[in-house]
Amino acid sequence: MKRPIAMIAGTGRAVPKRVMTNDEFAAIGIDTNDEWIRERTGIKSRHVAGPGETLTSLSAEAARIAMTAAGVTPGEIDSIVMATVSPDHLLPAAAVEVQAAIGATRAAAFDVDAACTGWIYGVTVAEGLIATGTAETVLVIGGEVLTRIMDWKDRNTCVLFGDGAGATILKKSTKGRGVLASYLRSDGTLAKLLWRPSGGGAKTVTADMLTDGSFFIQMQGRDVFKHAVRSMADAVDRALDAAKLSADDIDLVIPHQANIRIIEATAKHANVSMDKVYVNVDRYGNTSAGSIPIALDEALGNGRITEGSTVMFVGFGAGFTWGSVIARF
Ligand code: COA
Repeated sequence: MKRPIAMIAGTGRAVPKRVMTNDEFAAIGIDTNDEWIRERTGIKSRHVAGPGETLTSLSAEAARIAMTAAGVTPGEIDSIVMATVSPDHLLPAAAVEVQAAIGATRAAAFDVDAACTGWIYGVTVAEGLIATGTAETVLVIGGEVLTRIMDWKDRNTCVLFGDGAGATILKKSTKGRGVLASYLRSDGTLAKLLWRPSGGGAKTVTADMLTDGSFFIQMQGRDVFKHAVRSMADAVDRALDAAKLSADDIDLVIPHQANIRIIEATAKHANVSMDKVYVNVDRYGNTSAGSIPIALDEALGNGRITEGSTVMFVGFGAGFTWGSVIARF
């Protein structure tokens, strides 16, 4: 096992105030119901951004909490790595908006787009920045306001997603704490299974994009499900191999929170009982890049992670992207 270079020194999270239950979809004319959503996904409610709540405001709030937890001031942040697919503006990066909001004046700020695997990619980039001496203190945020880019008329997708941000401060490792292994993969041949067909530079923007739904997230759910189960299993195996650990060495698995059935399949493959798996998809839905760092912050807050815990983070998402990180706390 390698000696850790970078460790997670503090975390924070922020979600919109409004909680939307499954029953509320029928009230806005969507042909669905609480039983279908709970049985197929495990989701009971999600947070939805309201007026004045943006990716920047949620991310900045999460970042301030993480900085306090790590004992770091905004001026000490060398880099901000923002993982998102739902920036407040398409130009410039979401990270610079967060930089301005928190006053991290010395930081280099940029986005990482790896969809739901974004935080895992971001942590791995941060580890590299610290390893090369480019940065000492890195703020990694995973956050989304997906409810603003989903098709509220499409029951295949609109019931699945939620909004929120999780922030993490990475610093040089001390006392053997930190990232023990990471594994990143992508397969661009699967891009069209989960994507936004229009709105980017490939086509001139037209009003039709809003009415035909192609401006919003579109997904082939069944295919995504299959690939998700396969790629999560791959990510589990490869991270354990890289860290030279077995499933018994892992105290807690924090998987991407997309669907309870995918989480259960991942736990089964990893040979880990569900009591060692963190689940909050019931209360947040799929917050994409926000999902793992929000769950991490909760798990540190409620004692599921304590000093010395070895935690495996596993994610997959649009791209396809997938990957894993194992870290000691
Ligand atoms: N309410 C009620 N019925 C719905 C529905 C909803 N919200 N969404 C879809 N359905 C219907 C479908 O139209 C379909 O009806 P049909 O058989 O008449 O065509 C039926 O339910 C079954 O659809 P199917 O896609 O086979 O359901 P499923 O068991 O695969 O569950 C998902 C659908 C989306 C929950 C599941 O495929 C999934 O979770 N996929 C992965 C999605 C994901 O995690 N995406 C994010 C990746 S980061």
